[in-house]
Amino acid sequence: MPLQRSVNSAPLRKSCHSCQGFRPCPTLHLKTPDRPSISRSAAATFLIVMNALTRCLDSYWSSSIGKKLIVALTGIVLVLFVVGHLVGNLAVFAGREAFNDYAYFLHHLLHGAGIWVFRIVMLAMVGAHIAATVSLTRQNRAARKAYECQTTIQASKSSRTMILSGLTILAFVIYHLLHFTVRAGNTYDSYVDPEHLAKTGLERHDAWKMVIDGFSPGCWYVSLFYVIAMTLLCSHLMHGVGSIFQTLGFRSKKASTLIRQVSIGLSLFIWAGFVSIPVAILIGWIGN
Ligand code: HEM
Repeated sequence: MPLQRSVNSAPLRKSCHSCQGFRPCPTLHLKTPDRPSISRSAAATFLIVMNALTRCLDSYWSSSIGKKLIVALTGIVLVLFVVGHLVGNLAVFAGREAFNDYAYFLHHLLHGAGIWVFRIVMLAMVGAHIAATVSLTRQNRAARKAYECQTTIQASKSSRTMILSGLTILAFVIYHLLHFTVRAGNTYDSYVDPEHLAKTGLERHDAWKMVIDGFSPGCWYVSLFYVIAMTLLCSHLMHGVGSIFQTLGFRSKKASTLIRQVSIGLSLFIWAGFVSIPVAILIGWIGN
């Protein structure tokens, strides 16, 4: 193991060739007297693992099958998130206490660290999903130029608009984060749950009222934007869920009808669930 040898046998020098003169050498090519050996071996192990991970990711990234696999696996995580988020959001129909209990639970999971772990994982998933799909689309376009006839014959409408629906969903998520998570340009941050305060004497955020106000009739255009975004999400999932099965090798002649039914059923369930929230608030079914 060349790294290990250089850790143990390199003489004490003022600068390190491998690190091009950083002092003190940050990657342990030099033996430094003040560093305990336990942290050296832990850091060396970390470097070896990171190196293996980078090489593994690189080999996936350099083949189109590998990129498709990245899209499928990150897609599974994102679909699971969307379903989980929908089920949680439907608690809005159960009333203020149920919804605020749910929001409080999410924000205080693992003493508040849970939500940050979740955010970092989601960011990595979304980043990898977008980077791989954009790269695959560019590869496909470049490959198509070689053919005289460039018309798409078999692909469905939702499959042809995947990149467009995907980027619109990204724009929606950015808006949505500013709306309900960052709470930019509104006063939702100052909302305090009055029922909880009366019951326990403790203050907690009134997420339920935030959603009700966010989709109130005065902000009908916000609801309209949500409905449009959810429709594009539904179209994206209709094709995306089927593609996951295909990439993972589960699509056969026999299974393809079932896979199509599952993709359509799941997408429509997600669409109806999300759309029902702004619509129910707009028509005054909840929140009054
Ligand atoms: C009517 C539909 C939706 C409603 C009512 C809704 C509601 C909410 C609320 C209230 C929050 C903030 C939770 C809090 O901080 O207390 C939130 C966060 C979030 N929502 Fe949604 N959501 C909807 C649709 C979606 C969709 C379709 C997606 C993804 C495609 C999505 C992705 C997210 C993300 C990523 C967060 C940030 C979680 C965090 O890190 O705090 N939401 N949503």
